[in-house]
Amino acid sequence: MNTATSSAASAPAAPHTPRAEARAQKHGRDQRYLDLMAYIVSNTISGEIMAVENYSEMVPLMGGTDAKIETVKQALEETKHIRMLASLGKRLGYGVKTEIVEPQWLAIRGHFSAAVKKKDLAACLIIQDLMTETMAIVLYKTLGRDTDPDTAQVAGLILADELEHLDIGVRRISAMLKADPDTVHDALAWAHHRVMPELFSMISTSCHSLCSQLSVDCGGIGLDSISTDIEMLRVDALDAYMATLDAVGFDLKVTMPLIASMSGYGAQPRADVGLRTDAAPGCSTQAGRCC
Ligand SMILES: [Fe+2]
Ligand SMILES: [Fe+2]
Repeated sequence: MNTATSSAASAPAAPHTPRAEARAQKHGRDQRYLDLMAYIVSNTISGEIMAVENYSEMVPLMGGTDAKIETVKQALEETKHIRMLASLGKRLGYGVKTEIVEPQWLAIRGHFSAAVKKKDLAACLIIQDLMTETMAIVLYKTLGRDTDPDTAQVAGLILADELEHLDIGVRRISAMLKADPDTVHDALAWAHHRVMPELFSMISTSCHSLCSQLSVDCGGIGLDSISTDIEMLRVDALDAYMATLDAVGFDLKVTMPLIASMSGYGAQPRADVGLRTDAAPGCSTQAGRCC
């Protein structure tokens, strides 16, 4: 048995608290909810597959043996996430795709590979350790909030790993930033304009082909069944991204224009950072539907 399946299977049973019971009753046999979970979990698995490939491709660029081992461990943890999510779908009775479907993941993967080819380790770390991990954290926090007990438990277990991955990324990039601020700020701008639009386009009301591949009703899926909507998710994601950039210690003169540029693809910060975001919210239709 592989360790991922084993770790998912050996996780402690969800507690029978009144809240957990209420969640189970609320989400137990709701087909619309299960369709939403099939959609989100499948897309999440795609992100995890991309992460496995990114971390694996990055290993030769890492400077020392300890850093290589740490990166391989990150890749291994992402493989466990794939198994845990696939096993969750099986337990709850919905189908999931265990391959990359939506083209945005392939686009991000392509940008990462381009960074590897030019031996731009800072851009690699920014794409995977900072940007992708930050979005993963927002996603797993969402999946842990108002979902069924099984999903909430799996999301909580994976979230702990992703928080650690982000910490690793902040530590790595902070050190590189201190040593060579110009190069690392350039890497941030390069990665931001390529990767953030792709990540944010997946917090949207439309998919390319995932729903049809899953045979779920594209028009009927609603995020309201987990008490959120597209606008809330985008605000959460942007706030989390800003917090990550802050934690690294990037220069505000570089990051503020980057954040401001995101209003063009529907991201509006919740916090007042003194920015004027004149563009109208990009995702104005059918808020609450993911697909
Ligand atoms: Fe992961
Ligand atoms: Fe991760």
